Amino acid sequence: MIQIVYISSALAPWSTEQLLELLQQCLKNNSARGVTGMLLYGEDTFLQALEGDDLVIDDLVERIARDPRHAKVQFLHRRPIERRQYSDWSMGFKRISDQELTGIKGLKNFGAKDFNFDFLVRNEGIVDTLMDHYRTPHWDPLVRELGAKDKVIEHLKQALLQSRGNVEIATLVLESIADAGRAGTLSDRHMRLCDSALTELRGS
Ligand SMILES: Cc1cc2nc3c(=O)[nH]c(=O)nc-3n(C[C@H](O)[C@H](O)[C@H](O)COP(=O)(O)O)c2cc1C
Repeated sequence: MIQIVYISSALAPWSTEQLLELLQQCLKNNSARGVTGMLLYGEDTFLQALEGDDLVIDDLVERIARDPRHAKVQFLHRRPIERRQYSDWSMGFKRISDQELTGIKGLKNFGAKDFNFDFLVRNEGIVDTLMDHYRTPHWDPLVRELGAKDKVIEHLKQALLQSRGNVEIATLVLESIADAGRAGTLSDRHMRLCDSALTELRGS
């Protein structure tokens, strides 16, 4: 298995429709061929990582390099890998903007304007930082939300179990008092039972 990363230049700014069309093409083709990766676009510049079987990737990259929709395809690396780094994505995609870039660890004084062919080719460290950042799912608000949702559900589950337990205790206390009341055997023991149950319920 290999991974290839390249930078290229769009011939003209791409519209959202064009990007969507490309992304759909990537998703369809890549999932059929076991290709995973990530595509970043900004300032008429593409930065793409592709990984999969050697032959599949070499063939795909050849086709991409011939694609008339972009030019100046410059390979940054082609290296063997044991495990995929982008296993979650047939083709992850992010459009780079200043807002997007704020708060990325390890990126200082780097704005969307710097996401251009000449700058990126000369700054492989920044390319690595960008790819590392977008590879991990924390940037994705949807993924973050799902994580938060999981936590909320876990809290709800705990609260539900706690409240079911409380109902159980309260029911037992009421039953024992009702039984004793009917039998005429209500005693201090029941009051103590009531008090300790109340303490427990109030504390939970
Ligand atoms: C920046 C860029 C990235 C691309 N990435 C992929 C890709 O990941 N997978 C893919 O199948 N095609 C990709 N393409 C499209 C290919 O160049 C080519 O058009 C496509 O593979 C042809 O496949 P099809 O006609 O069989 O659908 C990309 C094109 C560009 C301009």
